[in-house]
Amino acid sequence: MDNTDTYLFNFKGFYFVRSLVNVDLLKNIDDFEIRDDDVFIITYPKSGTIWTQQILSLIYFEGHRNRTEIVDTSDRVPFLEYNIGKVDNYRRPSPRLFASHLPYYLAPKGLKNKKAKIIYIYRNPKDVLISYFHFSNLMALLEATDNLEHFMKRFLDGKVYGNLWFDHIRAWYEHRSELNILFMMYEEMKKDLRSSVLKISSFLEKELSDEDVEAIVKQATFQNMKFDPQVNYQHLLKHEWGTRTNEGDFLRKGTVGDWKHHLTVEQNERFDRIFQKKMKDFPLKFIWDINEEEN
Ligand code: A3P
Repeated sequence: MDNTDTYLFNFKGFYFVRSLVNVDLLKNIDDFEIRDDDVFIITYPKSGTIWTQQILSLIYFEGHRNRTEIVDTSDRVPFLEYNIGKVDNYRRPSPRLFASHLPYYLAPKGLKNKKAKIIYIYRNPKDVLISYFHFSNLMALLEATDNLEHFMKRFLDGKVYGNLWFDHIRAWYEHRSELNILFMMYEEMKKDLRSSVLKISSFLEKELSDEDVEAIVKQATFQNMKFDPQVNYQHLLKHEWGTRTNEGDFLRKGTVGDWKHHLTVEQNERFDRIFQKKMKDFPLKFIWDINEEEN
């Protein structure tokens, strides 16, 4: 049975999480007033959003870096298209940091004249698929599937929150010349977090001392984030959104190549065929395993 409409809300062709949606907010998002110094993290779900929220928050807030101010990253870098944090998303002092899963065509018009800075994080889609499969089974607001094959079909049909992975990355990439955008790869961040932090801060024109960089890198590791209640979304997930089981976290494994432990040879070959067809001529490279060279 197709339960898509039970869990998802279709707004102008894009699926949102039904229970979190605020239709009035979505209707106005096109005209949302962008400030020059706004910063956006744009991702397809499960690509490293909360990781980058943490990095940005650490870069911008000294009180976060030195742990003198305890504020959740979901409030420091709230979602543009949902009102899920405790703060008023929009009426914050500059610079406002936002996260978003919006597709290019629904993004505020003001972004499309290079006003604000955008960091687009992308991750190899087989790991996205596996991460998403586990997360959908854990989070009560998303539809659970009894096996990976079912979820893979939904993912490849774009019947998930975020629609088709292929369309999301393609559209943002193809419009890059209209945007002030930096593309960052999850796997590169994993391979060399320090260089990634420096790349992000240089794009944001934020000067950091060596000490600051050390503090950011230390607090943005998977191990550190997993056990830090300010950043691990555990409270939101367990107490506000709800989970189907007590086992499982938002920060699940945080590795590259976990798909190898889940996909059958046939599933993997099918995925490869679709990937090659859809991403033909797409210039960004992907890393499928941390021990492999790019291909
Ligand atoms: P896994 O499910 O593979 O572990 P998003 O925030 O976009 O929903 O992405 C979630 C994925 O990013 C999860 O992947 C999560 O573990 C991973 N992640 C979060 N913080 C991370 C970190 N500091 N290092 C590596 N991966 C991280």
